[in-house]
Amino acid sequence: MKNTISSVPHLDNFFATSAARLDRWRELNAKAQVWAAEARSGNSRGGRAAVEAALSEVRALENFFAYPGHRLMKALAEQIAEDDAMGVARLVLRLSGALLSGSYRYNSGEWETSDDGSATVPDRLPLSPEGGESRRPYFETLFVSPAPAANLLQIAHEIRRLRRVEDAMIYEPVLVGSFEDAILGTVLNGKIEAVVIYDGIPIPSQHEVPLLHDFLTTYQQLDTTTLVPREVGITLARAIKRIRPELDIYLLTDRRVEQLAGDPAAAMIRRVFYEVEELMEVHLNIIEGVADRFATPFFDNLKKYASRPISTFHALPIARGKSIIKSNWIHDMGEFYGQNLFLAETSATTGGIDSMLEPTGNIKIAQEKFARAVGADHVFFVTNGTSTSNKMVYQAVTKPGDIVIADRNCHKSHHYGMVLSGAQPLYVEAYPMTEYSMYGAVPLRTIKQAMLNLKAEGRLDRLKMVTLTNCTFDGHIYNTRRVMEECLAIKPDLLFLWDEAWFGFARWSPFLRPRTGLGAAAALEEWRASPEALKAWQAQAAELGEDLDPNDPRLLKRRLVPDPRKMRIRVYETDSVHKSMSCLRQGSIVAVRDEDYSKHVSAFHEAVFIHASTSPNAQIIASMDVARRQMELEGYELVMRAIEIALTIRREVAAHPIISKYFDVLGADDMVPAGFRASGFKDFLTPGSTWLTAVKAMHEDEFMLDPTRMTLVCGTAGYDGTAFKNLLAADYNIQLNKTSRNSVLLQSNINNTRSDVALLIKVLLEIAMQIEARLAEGGDAERAAFAARVKSLMTDVPDLPNFSRFHDGYREDPGSITLEGDMRTAFFAAYEEDDCEYLPLMSSKVDERLKKGPEMVSANFVIPYPPGFPIMVPGQVIDASTIGFMRKLDVKEIHGYNATRGLKLIKLSAIVKTQPGTKRTPSTAPAKGKTAGKKTKSS
Ligand SMILES: Cc1ncc(COP(=O)(O)O)c(C=O)c1O
Repeated sequence: MKNTISSVPHLDNFFATSAARLDRWRELNAKAQVWAAEARSGNSRGGRAAVEAALSEVRALENFFAYPGHRLMKALAEQIAEDDAMGVARLVLRLSGALLSGSYRYNSGEWETSDDGSATVPDRLPLSPEGGESRRPYFETLFVSPAPAANLLQIAHEIRRLRRVEDAMIYEPVLVGSFEDAILGTVLNGKIEAVVIYDGIPIPSQHEVPLLHDFLTTYQQLDTTTLVPREVGITLARAIKRIRPELDIYLLTDRRVEQLAGDPAAAMIRRVFYEVEELMEVHLNIIEGVADRFATPFFDNLKKYASRPISTFHALPIARGKSIIKSNWIHDMGEFYGQNLFLAETSATTGGIDSMLEPTGNIKIAQEKFARAVGADHVFFVTNGTSTSNKMVYQAVTKPGDIVIADRNCHKSHHYGMVLSGAQPLYVEAYPMTEYSMYGAVPLRTIKQAMLNLKAEGRLDRLKMVTLTNCTFDGHIYNTRRVMEECLAIKPDLLFLWDEAWFGFARWSPFLRPRTGLGAAAALEEWRASPEALKAWQAQAAELGEDLDPNDPRLLKRRLVPDPRKMRIRVYETDSVHKSMSCLRQGSIVAVRDEDYSKHVSAFHEAVFIHASTSPNAQIIASMDVARRQMELEGYELVMRAIEIALTIRREVAAHPIISKYFDVLGADDMVPAGFRASGFKDFLTPGSTWLTAVKAMHEDEFMLDPTRMTLVCGTAGYDGTAFKNLLAADYNIQLNKTSRNSVLLQSNINNTRSDVALLIKVLLEIAMQIEARLAEGGDAERAAFAARVKSLMTDVPDLPNFSRFHDGYREDPGSITLEGDMRTAFFAAYEEDDCEYLPLMSSKVDERLKKGPEMVSANFVIPYPPGFPIMVPGQVIDASTIGFMRKLDVKEIHGYNATRGLKLIKLSAIVKTQPGTKRTPSTAPAKGKTAGKKTKSS
């Protein structure tokens, strides 16, 4: 009979089995304690039945975990059968405690069947081969074997007997008997680090998991009913790698191993063994594979360095800490940070420390490991944040005159990157979410239109790169694969810069990974190699022609297919490691998967020299190294937990009768207009939504919402975003980052616990209750004032201004329908104060110039926080909507705007003067017919 894994179909449980599993054990524990109390009082009220019911909820899932494992579960069942309520209560308490604390990973006593350890069953060795306690890293290995179920225990016993005192790590085997159960084990058990597959395994699961087949067909395009058991090993390896690429996979087969090992289809398998060979080889490989992920070359070396007696004669007095620890005045700094920080400080590039600028040793290896971890060909460590990573990419791959299609709403580092490289931005607009004073993401249709316009005007060759923020600050995720596919159909050698400052963690979620730049690059590579790719392109060519006609309206309406023989996969992804992993602030990477990278190698080195500090912080580098180790070993589980925490917050806010009166976390349907949700997906918590619904949406929809980014609307509670953020920080010790006019952004990450959720919910309730009390006490007047405040925050919102255009003087062809401009020249024009003028924002002169001209041209970037995107860039003509927006802004921080002096403008006389090349007469009145109609064509 099949066991039903009832937890699996539910959305949250797919994301976080670990939390759901612990909850079940807690539940079982509570029931066991009640039964014991009944037994003590001699008053039986069905305690045993309740324990049995709770145990059956736990049991099916436990097949996929090493602990408690078969023996302890059997002992528990026996105690129940013997009606030993006390024994059951003791055992369940111990097991659930061990699971919660993780003590089973190092305390062999937790594996005993009796409390005094006297009943150790001889078929297993204790965790530590010496029999003592050990803190050697512990993990679990999935063995997928066709052996009859009755033999599995014996196999597990044999595997444990392979342990050696010399092993650097220790693992417990988890045995499953089929293809589908191996998939379930991979999904459910985040402790699994390696998988050993015996060829010839049966296909169907022993469990009833209604959504598993749908999951495999949607996510993997895999129909298990058509698989042939005999040759299923490689298919399983591939399926597992799609879910968790970091796992080491070993294949044991009695087929011709030499042939298999040379088969490119088996490339994802770490080693292939001939089945009859000694298991010890497999064992040693398993440990070596995990040890390789564990090794952190830079951090390991830094620790060694710190423990050596070194005298420094270089310029870094803080190194070794003597000037601090001995100081009468600053010794508290030493006490606060601890001595190791100073022992590990160095400006040396010798002695095993390596150089960030020209890495040849452990930094180089650490970068290579990071590249492997994220699926890139190269990774560059950057110690000044993604602000610098982005600028490095512009510097390396673009040059003056190149055109870059960029979301105008992207981080300022992109705009500055273009100022530095001289690339000309062709801004495209994200869809506005005016009611929340924020932007969504840029529709693909807009990007395609911009490219087709360039093609129509004969300038497509100048387009170098498309740059998009994925996910956006507020959590909009692009369909990265589709964007690249369609753009490559128009220009096959296009580069993509995916700014994934916020999204580095996504790599470790099988759900989010396909939507990262690098995840999509891998999928595109696979697609390109398949026969379907050429067929799809040929079908399109038959219909639309080989060379797409930019004026053909069908191109915007359909999904375009690139020519697999011509397309190049050229992806740059920047991640703020510090934003989503255990890394010190400013740790960031540039990850490269560009098959034409050789064209940029030397430019990239220049970019490193230009932007990297010659004094990089060793601790930041070390923490990037360690963050990579952590994510490769436990990222899958941690990210699942972060998602689960976000779903819990969403659920609790929505379900609470008082909190939900004043607060709301925006769902995917609020953040992404229906037109971009082709799958019909509404939200993670919509009744009837399963994880399969979400997987489908991830696959099909143009935009998706990162569940860990929660826009909490607080305008309905009468708070603007900034006031609410300050309230949380000042009165409740809760910190958050981004705000809008009527919302704040909450983010969950791998650091959050369920206690954090409890605190947040408690605080929201407290604030909601205070509002309730105030409204009740204040009577009609208070209620009217509250309603007016809510209305002002929620409905009187300023329109978001679109990018107007660059002044004609900064455009090569002012008549062009594409709006790229020479921002760099405008930027430097503003260095001449004599060529600039200032106009107070509120002055009537501004209105006069809007009406009658001459046009006002911004001299610099003006970036209000929030929303944090430039509402003016150098050379941009300032129009009425921008002025209107600025006047309505009630934020304190506006970078690039000096309220005392006013708007800084470039005098029109100066525009001619500063133009390189052809001089043009600047217009003096607002350009006619040059805005709406033409602009919308490209933006
Ligand atoms: C989209 C985006 N890119 C880049 C950055 C800059 O990253 P960092 O803070 O690591 O310099 C940010 C910062 O908030 C950002 O939001």
